[in-house]
Amino acid sequence: MNILDDFACLNTAAILAWLREEDPERLKSLWKAADSVRKANVGDEVHLRGLIEISSYCCRLCGYCGLRADNKGLERYRLSEDEIMTCARQAVDYGYGTVVMQAGEDYGITCEWLAAIIGRLKAETPLAVTLSLGERPDEDLVAWREAGANRYLLRFETSDADLYALIHPTHAGRLSDRIAMLRRLRELGYEPGSGVMVGIPGQTYANLARDLETFRALDLDMIGIGPYLSHPATPLGQGEWTREVTPEDQVPNSEMMTYKAVALTRLLCPQSNIPSTTALATINKARGRELGLMRGANIVMPNLTPPKYRALYEIYPAKACIDETAQECRACLHGRIASIGRTVGKGPGQRIGKG
Ligand code: 5AD
Ligand code: FES
Repeated sequence: MNILDDFACLNTAAILAWLREEDPERLKSLWKAADSVRKANVGDEVHLRGLIEISSYCCRLCGYCGLRADNKGLERYRLSEDEIMTCARQAVDYGYGTVVMQAGEDYGITCEWLAAIIGRLKAETPLAVTLSLGERPDEDLVAWREAGANRYLLRFETSDADLYALIHPTHAGRLSDRIAMLRRLRELGYEPGSGVMVGIPGQTYANLARDLETFRALDLDMIGIGPYLSHPATPLGQGEWTREVTPEDQVPNSEMMTYKAVALTRLLCPQSNIPSTTALATINKARGRELGLMRGANIVMPNLTPPKYRALYEIYPAKACIDETAQECRACLHGRIASIGRTVGKGPGQRIGKG
């Protein structure tokens, strides 16, 4: 029997069963299926997307994130236009096709300032430009798209509305509807990306199964999945803002559960770009990146942030790559990709079958 027959009908019950699967032989068959679907749909190339963490300021209070506005223990920074352009030129030199500009939700990043930088990036480099700047107002998204931005990443974190509301306080009375924002981004001509954390306190298996089905329904360009990692300077890290779920229902924030979610996502969204995330590399520094790439992922995001700022972008503690230079991350990832018999992708890494 073809190995993929087992996965032909991934309905909710089958997804749930795989998430709870513990038999090593069965799991091997899951990794194998995800790897072959990855190869058939997005090939052996691993695309590198250079990550520039342009600001650690944030006005939001997400219950899990170290950049939350209330974390007064963190020194904040914002890159200058020159610093961003230097990182971008480095991306070109290193052969990266894309830069991802990520920050907290920082209104010190004004619409006009960033639009001018996007314009320069598009005029002066061949890079695809991805933004990951939180829930910005519609006019900002419109202006940045007009300036030339290609993609926007906004994780919905969990598809369970109650859990979402529990860990994401509203800002300035605005309703937060990330799914609606992802649809709007597509309408504006962005390639939308999203993702979730695995093992958020209060997240059930049924919640996670629904997250994966939501990926399928949204038809996303990029899907980032990483383990939830506890940060002591956050409410969740201090055991607050939690809801009662039974221990049998609670999803563990484990490495293994993350691989299961990545592999199932590949089966459900064969053509999406799936990164092997930094959070995964953080819980298994030796082999996390490689195992992610061998179990469905096809993207990595080497860090281009100037070293003096790296440790300040502390979403969670002990983040991988905080002591490395951009050059070291590049060499490290090239080595890891080669070690598993894959090649480094060239160009912007557009989705197959999409413009
Ligand atoms: N653990 C793991 N991932 C986190 N993120 C934020 N805080 C944490 C944490 N404590 C993830 C979120 C966010 C992305 C940029 O980082 O999913 O969307
Ligand atoms: Fe940064 Fe390996 S990717 S050190």
